[in-house]
Amino acid sequence: MPVQVNGEVLSLRRVGAYHAMTVVAPGVAEIAKPGQFVTVAVGGPDTSMMMRRPFSIYQIRERGVYGGTVEFIFSIEGRGTAWLAARQAHEPIDIVGPLGKAFSLPREPATCVLVGGGYGTAPLFPLADALRARGCRIDFVMGASKEERLFGALDAKRISATLSVTTEDGSVGHRGRVSDVLPDVLSSSKADVVYACGPMGMLRAVSRIADAAGIACQIAVEELMACGVGVCMTCVLPVVGDDGVTRMVRSCVDGPVFHGDRVRFDDIGTIPADALGAPQPIVVKPQPRSSLKPTGQQASAEVTR
Ligand SMILES: Cc1cc2nc3c(=O)[nH]c(=O)nc-3n(C[C@H](O)[C@H](O)[C@H](O)COP(=O)(O)OP(=O)(O)OC[C@H]3O[C@@H](n4cnc5c(N)ncnc54)[C@H](O)[C@@H]3O)c2cc1C
Ligand code: FES
Repeated sequence: MPVQVNGEVLSLRRVGAYHAMTVVAPGVAEIAKPGQFVTVAVGGPDTSMMMRRPFSIYQIRERGVYGGTVEFIFSIEGRGTAWLAARQAHEPIDIVGPLGKAFSLPREPATCVLVGGGYGTAPLFPLADALRARGCRIDFVMGASKEERLFGALDAKRISATLSVTTEDGSVGHRGRVSDVLPDVLSSSKADVVYACGPMGMLRAVSRIADAAGIACQIAVEELMACGVGVCMTCVLPVVGDDGVTRMVRSCVDGPVFHGDRVRFDDIGTIPADALGAPQPIVVKPQPRSSLKPTGQQASAEVTR
């Protein structure tokens, strides 16, 4: 069960274009699994920012001098993340977690290709640790718009059999996107499974490439979230179930990890008409004139005349 913790900022540091915050959060760290996320209250006690902000878990340390710690990586996108980036060590911070479903791990040692986009690479590191502990081979593919928005390239190189880097501006690695290099990585590594986290466009491309190669693919999505605990339905997306039926599922509790080939990427943001419980359009069939009968007041008026 997730817990709410009145934690404490242990440290905040810059990592390229990102910020890394470590929070003392006993109770969260001990049960967190790769792929899960936390939500953080932002803005302090008098804020108008009511919604917690979700962040993928990067590092978990179950025990430390201060108790279990959780680290997450974030970029400044708006007021909430700007407030987080201005925190100081030892300030209190309100955190809930771990939330959501984690990545599933192969039972036997397997070759795993990990694909990350921008800060989406962060949750792949605890996953890589768990996979390596099971004897799996790791091949890393990471991409970003430019060099400073790559995350963890040196660590990825240390723990993986191969590392492929792409940047859209060509500042480092292959100029282009992860989808340009992924097919070659899948075939040269003889991959058994793909894990990915990053922007939705990247996840769509990765899922399609893995599907075309006949390789199982798990993705961690980042749909906009309000409550983060399954109540508000902000985060729903259409996903095909084992029975072939599409359901609108909540990415905060049914995800954020899904099988890539089950997500209907083209229909995200809509409720497809064939989804279970989707509102059906009302079809008005034109009636032949002869079947139109006077009713109600009109009928009684005609009878009176
Ligand atoms: C499961 C999950 C895991 C996430 N993990 C991380 C992470 O590890 N590191 C990180 O930096 N961010 C992560 N995000 C995105 C992060 O939650 C948002 O960037 C953050 O909430 C923005 O808050 P804000 O107040 O600064 O910006 P706001 O003022 O709320 O929004 C500013 C801009 O950010 C965009 N934004 C808001 N929420 C999201 C979102 N969920 N995804 C993409 N863009 C968003 C808005 O559309 C807007 O354009 C994650 C989101 C989810 C749902
Ligand atoms: S964010 Fe509220 S149900 Fe998912």
